[in-house]
Parts: sequence; C-alpha cells; structure tokens
Amino acid sequence: MKPREIRSGIYAVGAIDWDRRLFDSLIPLPDGTSYNSYFIKGSEKTALIDTVDPAMQWVLMHHLDLLDCKHIDYVIANHAEQDHSGTLPKVLERYAGAKLVTTPKCKGMLMDLLLIPEDRFITVEDKQTISLGDRTLEFIHAPWVHWPETMLTYLREESILFPCDLFGSHLATTDLYMTDEGQLYEAAKRYYAEIMMPFRSNIEKHLERLKGYRIDIIGPSHGPMHNKPSFIMEAYRDWVSGKPKNIVVLPYISMHGSTQRMVEYFVDALTDRGVTVIQFNLAATDIGKLAMALVDAGTLVIGTPTVLVGPHPNVAHAAFLANAIRPKLQFVSIIGSYGWGSKAVEQISGMIPNLKVEVLPPVISKGFPREEVFTNLEALAETIAQKHKEHGFA
Ligand code: FEO
Repeated sequence: MKPREIRSGIYAVGAIDWDRRLFDSLIPLPDGTSYNSYFIKGSEKTALIDTVDPAMQWVLMHHLDLLDCKHIDYVIANHAEQDHSGTLPKVLERYAGAKLVTTPKCKGMLMDLLLIPEDRFITVEDKQTISLGDRTLEFIHAPWVHWPETMLTYLREESILFPCDLFGSHLATTDLYMTDEGQLYEAAKRYYAEIMMPFRSNIEKHLERLKGYRIDIIGPSHGPMHNKPSFIMEAYRDWVSGKPKNIVVLPYISMHGSTQRMVEYFVDALTDRGVTVIQFNLAATDIGKLAMALVDAGTLVIGTPTVLVGPHPNVAHAAFLANAIRPKLQFVSIIGSYGWGSKAVEQISGMIPNLKVEVLPPVISKGFPREEVFTNLEALAETIAQKHKEHGFA
C-alpha cells in the first residue's frame, strides 16, 4: 500500500495489519485492524498525526520516504497508547528537528512509557492552535477516549477531525473510506463495545462539544475514514445515550445439562413474551460478540452451574467483563444449578459492582430442573417483560 492523498497535501500514511487477531492479549480482532497516521503539508510547516504500532513502523517510514519527507516540524500525539505512539521514538530519531505536540498529561505518560526526553515536547491546552502556514491545527482535549490523556486534532481549513481511537473500528481494508455501511457498523460497534463503552458519559460530553465544529471528514486511528461523518456520529449517539432495547443477553455455561435445560426453557418463556434474547454459550463464545450485544441490552441474565461452590470460571470471566465495560443495561439476574451447595449467586453479585442495575430474583435449581423451577423461570421472564415495557424498551 502506498500513501494515499486525502486532500492536496494531506496523506494517509499508516499501516494495515491484516493478520492481527488479538488486541491487548484479550480482544478478538476477526477482521484485523489498521494503525492510521496522517501527514499534512502546510505552506510553511509540516505535521504528522499519530504513528503506528511498533511492529509495523517500517510501513510508516516507507510511506514517508515515498512522499520524499525530509523534515517534519510537528509530530502530534493524540494518545499515548503504543499502537499509536510506539513508533514515536523512531520518528523523533529520524526527524531530529521535530517537536512532539501533545497534552500535558500525555507528555508525562509518553516520558514514562517510551522514555522520550522532555526537551522534545510542546504541550498544548484545550482549543490551542498551531499554524502550518495556510493550515491550522486545533487541539481539543477529550479525556477518556480511551485513556485520561487523550485529545482530538481538528484541521480547521479542511474541516477534518482526527480523533484517534474515537470513531475507530478494527477493520483491515484497502478502502480509504467506508464503502460497506453494514460491515463498518458491525466493526465500529464491536470496537465501541470493547474500548469506548466504559467511558460513555465522557463520550456523551465530547459528542456535544463536537456539535460546535463543522466536520466533513473523520480520520480515526483504526479502520476506514468517514466521509459521511453523520453515519458514525449518529451511531455513537444511539450507543451512548439511546434507551436500552427490549433485549436480554444470556451468557451461560452448562456442564451436565441442568443449566442448559433452564436456559432453553427461559429463552422460550422470554420469546413468548416478545422479548428478544441473545444467547451465548461461553464454552465457545467470541467475547467481542458478547460485548456488542451488551451495547443495547436492557437486561443481562447470567446462567451458571456450580463449580467448587462458585460460578463456572468462564461465567466469572463474562461477569467480570460485563462489569468492566459498563453497559447501559438496567436489570440483572442469575439462573443456574448446583448439586449439593452453591455460593454462585453471592459470588457473581460481588463481581458486578459497576453495573447500576436492579437485581431481579435469581432462579437456582438443585439438580435437574423440575416443575417449581420452570414456574420460577416463567415468573422471572414475566418480570423482565413487564420491566422492559414500563421503561419503554422497544
Ligand atoms: Fe488504539 Fe487506545 O489505542
């Protein structure tokens, strides 16, 4: 792939990583990803916005060579995470006159994480600008997208927003801009669920601030660019602020069939009442899909057998994940089974303190479920359907 011109003198110079399948040694990347970097020529100065993962630093260097780039004045670091900052040391070594422009907080983090010397930095405050001559970069502090030090860079004359992780997607593609809306929506939602959802309230405020800017193009740091910014911005508004939907997400494990039978019965009971259920057998689930389902869900019901008095470890993992990514769901319950004794309900309840939810009475079966258990599952399904109706979840 060669550098691609976005507008005259503005180039995409990042790297596409087709083969990466895991991020943070945790998050599945079924469609790879990209580390986007942008080079901007002004009439007097040049700027590079973000770099690439260090594993692909040669791609960025090659692209800068193809543009015959002998000098960079400003290297903009929107975010300290290494998939964007990891090639900064190499860039600063190669372009000895370049200044590294970032927020005061990001400066400290880059000095800690990458051992960049202090004299290379210029720090910028919120809404501060830097002139490239005929082009102006404005820096918008936007903490918690996705770390506390983050900022967005806005190219005023071209109305292009470079928001780093925000509005990104883990999607390797040769297309500079989104071409398949369905594919992009899916990838961006997965990305939002895994990376951005824990910071919903901050993102809501940033979206509000961005209403004050004309934005023609968004150049995120992962995935394709957006030349119809309203598509991704509207999607974010829905994910961040929209009401939960009439959906129950049901991650579960069954070892000998008791919890499985309860899950089957319960799914039917909810479906009969018009509630959509998304069921995940955690023995074989892509946790990215589970995270995506939680973006819209009104209720989470966790299904678990009892292992050594507690929940199955895969269920504990899912509960921990749900707690970490803080979806907007409003109700939680637990269904499951045990042979001789269980503290699964207490232990799962202790794992989800971040979820600001109403806990609905659990249904636990001693051994294989019998009539009384089915009656209780019907009652739980009815409660959920009623709660969703009362709250206007559609
Ligand atoms: Fe793509 Fe938070 O780094």
